[in-house]
Amino acid sequence: MNEVTIAIAGGGSTYTPGIVGALIENVDRLKMKELRLYDCDFERQEKMGHLIRAILKQKYPHPIEVIVTDDPEKAFTGVDFVFSQIRVGGLKMREKDEKIPLKYGCVGQETCGPGGFAYGLRSIRGFLPLVEQIIRFAPEAWILNYSNPESIIAEAVRRAYPTAKIINVCDMTISIEETICANFGYQHEDFIPEYYGLNHFGWYRSIYSKREKRDILPDILDKMGAGLEVADFNAGDASWAATYKMLGRIVTDFPGYLPNTYLEYYLYPDLVVAEADPTHTRANEVMEGRETKVYALAEQAKANQDSAGLEINFGSHGQYIVDIATSLLNDENRRFMLITPNRGAIPNVRQDAVVEVPSYVSAKGIEPVCLDAIPDFHKGLIEAQCAAEKLLVDAYFEGSYLKALQAYTLNQSVPSANVAKKMLDDFIEVNREYWPELT
Ligand code: G6P
Ligand code: MN
Repeated sequence: MNEVTIAIAGGGSTYTPGIVGALIENVDRLKMKELRLYDCDFERQEKMGHLIRAILKQKYPHPIEVIVTDDPEKAFTGVDFVFSQIRVGGLKMREKDEKIPLKYGCVGQETCGPGGFAYGLRSIRGFLPLVEQIIRFAPEAWILNYSNPESIIAEAVRRAYPTAKIINVCDMTISIEETICANFGYQHEDFIPEYYGLNHFGWYRSIYSKREKRDILPDILDKMGAGLEVADFNAGDASWAATYKMLGRIVTDFPGYLPNTYLEYYLYPDLVVAEADPTHTRANEVMEGRETKVYALAEQAKANQDSAGLEINFGSHGQYIVDIATSLLNDENRRFMLITPNRGAIPNVRQDAVVEVPSYVSAKGIEPVCLDAIPDFHKGLIEAQCAAEKLLVDAYFEGSYLKALQAYTLNQSVPSANVAKKMLDDFIEVNREYWPELT
């Protein structure tokens, strides 16, 4: 088996230990000779580096070199894969994305609604130079991107670097599927799911059971009236509990299909806002919870060079990324839900949309599955969201205030152009160092 070099862009992220955990578990399918952590926040990443070195020293069965750097040339030269998980502006800016809309009675969320669009413009600005550097220093490398908001990033990359070797991947579908399994006793290996939409904006039309040789989605939906209990490392976090409960409401009001949890922000913005605390949002939960825990462990690792106490379960996220990498590397031709230019995968959605659909991954790259036409209700929601995202990406490339205002106004979680403009102006103010100038 070839030994590979992997770079993690956004190495200081709290998800890094989970990714490394998955790389350790899958060493038989993907053997690393070198791991590089790259982050523009060198100090934060250096702390993470201590923890990662300690974990690998204790658990990796082969010699491995770990490089921690903020120099793109050192980070990317000759790598086989870049796993990208950057968060431009960090959790501090996530907090603003969530709190500014709530001031106006709108959904305050990381990747959806007005906050997601604010994050979108920041991310494009940070992500495009990263792609440029990876192409320069490692033209053969595959970029597995899970930096958010993914549809917006994917659209921007497609325009700026149409031939980039990038696969955009989100763990939300696998999380939903595994949560269903944990709640009702199904086995995930038994599922062949059919799902369509945009990232964080789609529906399951069927879940075929290999064992029962039929679609079992109707059985699952029948059991889901009360929603789902969170089954992974987020159990205990009030916001994820509320989100998985809300699925019950959606499948009751709109039977027949299983939505992505993120649809709550577009279908029931009023209910979501009513439950939100405008002074304490998910960003605060993450800073007080996951971030504090992981960085305390990193301090500990720095002091005594070991990773004892790292019992945090990071769910399916790391495993999913590593599965995609091994499918590319070993030509496994496995099926994943991936974010890719439409090109007919959803025949009645615009061809230049970036969609999330089942796709096979082999040595050749990604091959999306061609689906049947989707119902008008979903198509209408998807097309409006897609147009809004495209306007936002236009706003970035053209520096256009008008396009940004149109994007905000068209976002289906925003009730009026008046509110859209107020939020946009507030976001311009706080994003001066991150956004392009809009005139
Ligand atoms: C899921 C989504 C990610 C998102 C994350 C937020 O995993 O697929 O795109 O970033 O949830 O989780 P957090 O715990 O940071 O709120
Ligand atoms: Mn996601």
